[in-house]
Amino acid sequence: MINVLFVCLGNICRSPMAEAVFRHLVERENISNKIKVDSGGTGGWHIDEVPHIGTRKVLDKQKISYSGMKARQVSKNDWNDFDYIIAMDDQNIKDLQKFNTQNEDVVVAKLMDFVDKPKEQEVPDPYYTGNFDYTYELVSEGCTNLLQYIREKHNI
Ligand code: 4NP
Repeated sequence: MINVLFVCLGNICRSPMAEAVFRHLVERENISNKIKVDSGGTGGWHIDEVPHIGTRKVLDKQKISYSGMKARQVSKNDWNDFDYIIAMDDQNIKDLQKFNTQNEDVVVAKLMDFVDKPKEQEVPDPYYTGNFDYTYELVSEGCTNLLQYIREKHNI
């Protein structure tokens, strides 16, 4: 089993969007028994909240489920439970270092690292930009490429 954790600041806009999109792709490719997906925030302000209305609207439009998803904060234990910890921006990476328990087997990277010539190096935060459609465009491309990378790397 490969475990993938998406991380942003609040766990209500970007990382839940990535979690839902990535799970949707995994289910569509019939490999849910091989890859598990979750998301978390480096901050704890929104614990137990459902995804932001903007993220829900974008996912509804794409007919992608976010059923049962609730915000949580990342914890040190995540370094034992996940193989990939995929952040949205550079600040997430910095903040994640505070939780790290030096498990060097875990791949910590940004979602846009998996895109060739990305439009952005970081996924813009729609909590501030208000542009959930553009964030979806980037998240969708990143998730497609990340899944392809993981499938090739682990022969899935
Ligand atoms: P996210 O967006 O990190 O994509 O979930 C944010 C959500 C909430 C806050 C910041 C960013 N906040 O400061 O409450």
